[in-house]
Amino acid sequence: MTPAKRPEPGSKSLLDLYRLGVSLLEGRPQAGLEAKVLLLKAAALPEERYFAAPDSPCPPRAEASFLRLVEKRRRGVPLSYLTGVKEFWSMPLRVSPSVLVPRPETEVIVEKVLELSTREKETILDLGTGSGNIAIALAKELPQARVVAADISERALRVARGNAASHKVKRVEFLKSDLFSAFRGTGARFDFILSNPPYVSRAEWDSLPAEVREFEPRRALLAGDSGLEMISRLARRAGSFLRPGGYLIFEIGDGQRDRVLSLFGRRWTEIETAWDLAGKPRVITARRA
Ligand SMILES: C[S@@+](CC[C@H](N)C(=O)[O-])C[C@H]1O[C@@H](n2cnc3c(N)ncnc32)[C@H](O)[C@@H]1O
Repeated sequence: MTPAKRPEPGSKSLLDLYRLGVSLLEGRPQAGLEAKVLLLKAAALPEERYFAAPDSPCPPRAEASFLRLVEKRRRGVPLSYLTGVKEFWSMPLRVSPSVLVPRPETEVIVEKVLELSTREKETILDLGTGSGNIAIALAKELPQARVVAADISERALRVARGNAASHKVKRVEFLKSDLFSAFRGTGARFDFILSNPPYVSRAEWDSLPAEVREFEPRRALLAGDSGLEMISRLARRAGSFLRPGGYLIFEIGDGQRDRVLSLFGRRWTEIETAWDLAGKPRVITARRA
């Protein structure tokens, strides 16, 4: 895409800039919403102030910052990386290019745990925590639970720790771990092991929207030739880290359900599928026999 010709920063009103943003983002399905979100971010304004006085002048620095954000959005940088925030389970979470932007369908994992939890002192492991979205939502919902959140990426853990601190959640322990490596030999056994693992196959990678492929962390998405690399490791090893009767609950991709179900042997019972709001099989639950 050719860069948009940038007007010189001057004394434009907020409304002028909003209109300019909409025209620069023309062709995007949510141009109006995106222009507004980026303008509020650049001008550090709450929405009410914008609506109360859209004709007030925008400071030149905020204008320049807005035009830079719009230009990045035109290049495909995800909106959440530009604002630095994404909502999950009705909580605003900080996000950076070190973590996957949490998706609404992942809330199905949280719902499933809440459905199965006894509300007693349960232990929960969230593997591949990214921004910490699942772990933090559950720590808030289940005040008796002890939550451990692990990720192979130290950068992701930094973002997740920051999110836990800003939500004043102290009961989540964050650990660097390649799958279960940090727990091997510790005798740790959990009531729930949860994961939204990478599950994109190499073939699917090329057909992902450029916005995802070029800007979100590859390690958070790509899982070998089949897309099932991490899921099969989970199915093979999670049983050793679950209490008898404990649950493994994880997200899957489109078209993976049958292959994933075939990974579970006699060690597992109550293998169930939960569908997301788009009607896709999204979350698998399996109980350690
Ligand atoms: C799909 S993202 C999910 C992030 C977050 N839980 C969410 O729902 O948005 C997968 C996460 O798994 C992490 N990951 C990838 N391979 C891993 C491994 N072998 N062990 C632990 N974490 C891993 C990535 O760093 C990434 O944060």
